[in-house]
Amino acid sequence: MENLTQQQLLRQISIGITLIHVLTENERRCERLLGQTAARIKGMGSPVSWTCTDGLSRDGEIIPDTADPLKALDFALSHPGPLLLILKDIHKFWRDNPVLVRKIKDLSCVSRGKGKVTVITAEEEWIPPCLQEEIVLFRQGLPDIEEIRTFLRQLRENDTSFAKVCESEPDLLERLVVAARGLDLVDLERAIRTLRLTDMSSTDAVRSLLENKRRILQQSGIMELILDTAGCNQLGGMENLKHWLQRRESAFGLEGISSGIGLPKGVLIMGVAGCGKSLLVKAIATEWHLPLIRLDMSTVYSGIFGSPEASLNKAFKTAEAVAPCVLWIDEIESGITTHGFKSEGGASSRVLGSFLTWMQEKQEPVFVAATANAIEMLPAEVLRKGRFDEIFYVGLPETSAREEIFRIHLAKRKADLSIFDSKLLAGSTKGFSGAEIEQIVHSAIFEARADQRPMTQQDLMAMVSRTVPLSITMAEQIKKIETWAFKRAVPASGSS
Ligand SMILES: Nc1ncnc2c1ncn2[C@@H]1O[C@H](COP(=O)(O)OP(=O)(O)O)[C@@H](O)[C@H]1O
Ligand SMILES: [Mg+2]
Repeated sequence: MENLTQQQLLRQISIGITLIHVLTENERRCERLLGQTAARIKGMGSPVSWTCTDGLSRDGEIIPDTADPLKALDFALSHPGPLLLILKDIHKFWRDNPVLVRKIKDLSCVSRGKGKVTVITAEEEWIPPCLQEEIVLFRQGLPDIEEIRTFLRQLRENDTSFAKVCESEPDLLERLVVAARGLDLVDLERAIRTLRLTDMSSTDAVRSLLENKRRILQQSGIMELILDTAGCNQLGGMENLKHWLQRRESAFGLEGISSGIGLPKGVLIMGVAGCGKSLLVKAIATEWHLPLIRLDMSTVYSGIFGSPEASLNKAFKTAEAVAPCVLWIDEIESGITTHGFKSEGGASSRVLGSFLTWMQEKQEPVFVAATANAIEMLPAEVLRKGRFDEIFYVGLPETSAREEIFRIHLAKRKADLSIFDSKLLAGSTKGFSGAEIEQIVHSAIFEARADQRPMTQQDLMAMVSRTVPLSITMAEQIKKIETWAFKRAVPASGSS
């Protein structure tokens, strides 16, 4: 059963469909969509809707003596058209009621060519067997980006206090659009109501929507919505990548990116462990104001939540429902052993295969950010140009990046930056990863605190001299990764 959208409706009507059944749990939302659709059809005017208590009504005005469903249908039968008739309660009457079913059939028949369309809204799927051939079935899925945007724009027009908030924060509308995707409009209405009635900040309203979504995603077991994201200012070095990110944002703006116009397919980020790949993915989501969904590949392969293929398909469906978003596939190579991948029909090759197909075919604005430590595990087709827009290599930070990383982590722990010589620290830590630098700051603070005194440059230098960076013990592997990346990837650091 397909999801109902305005385009779908217009298409069905244009090919002469006269009877439509919509499965919906939100009648009001369905009615709004139908009203918007009717407004786009010449001469149709507002829809006429029927309930078993009021009978027919149009624009809130009741047409008298039409509470009897047969009388309501008589009205539609004799209407010259065009007309959009919404029958809200008819499914409660049409079981064992041959006269009613016959009248619906008659209406469908005479509607042809007159621009008369009848839409039945219901919470249940059952329809009388003899109507099955005439009726087109739809489900009202979650609202798409356009529906959410239209809803918010209308609200802004009709609600002065919401309009005021929007005026003071030009980005707010679009941020709400992004945050509300994957949820029903009732959640969005609730968030805006609290925004209006309490002195809740707009950031809190956006956040409460994201919290809702986080709860939904958590139930899947394999996905997680990450809310504690970090922006570019938390990321030392990687000028090249920051530049790449910001250029897109300035070219397309938030609306372009969230509509998918400026959103590339995805990037593969590979490189040395502890050098900020995960942090970088968070920065992408933050800079583009998109929700970040992390897919845990090792859980996918473990099969705890169903077969790996089924889990992955579910993840793609969810990401599309929530889109625009960033789908983070962390350590994409986990679960792939060289042996496992090469052996014909292994689970990992099937999983990667369906991943690549989806990457190529996806319609919704889902930006894929895949990270990998061990690239030699990845088969060539993953790396082939065209799958990902870019393959970035994140290597050990250079001197200036190390200086920046020291400053970021010192500032994060509220240290007074003016008393530290970050140049000297950077100069003494050649070959250290970002994670190791963070660890040095962390341990130095701990030592000083144990002695109940403020941390000094000396504490940091002492930690530096005690640390043997992984790049020394793993020199061979890092060299291999670097050689590989030199030919195939764009360095994240350096200025293009
Ligand atoms: N370039 C960097 N700038 C700032 N902090 C960094 C950087 N690289 C690593 N770190 C610190 O090290 C931690 C681990 O990095 P992470 O992003 O998980 O590395 P990876 O995913 O490449 O293994 C981060 O949470 C961050 O605190
Ligand atoms: Mg990581």
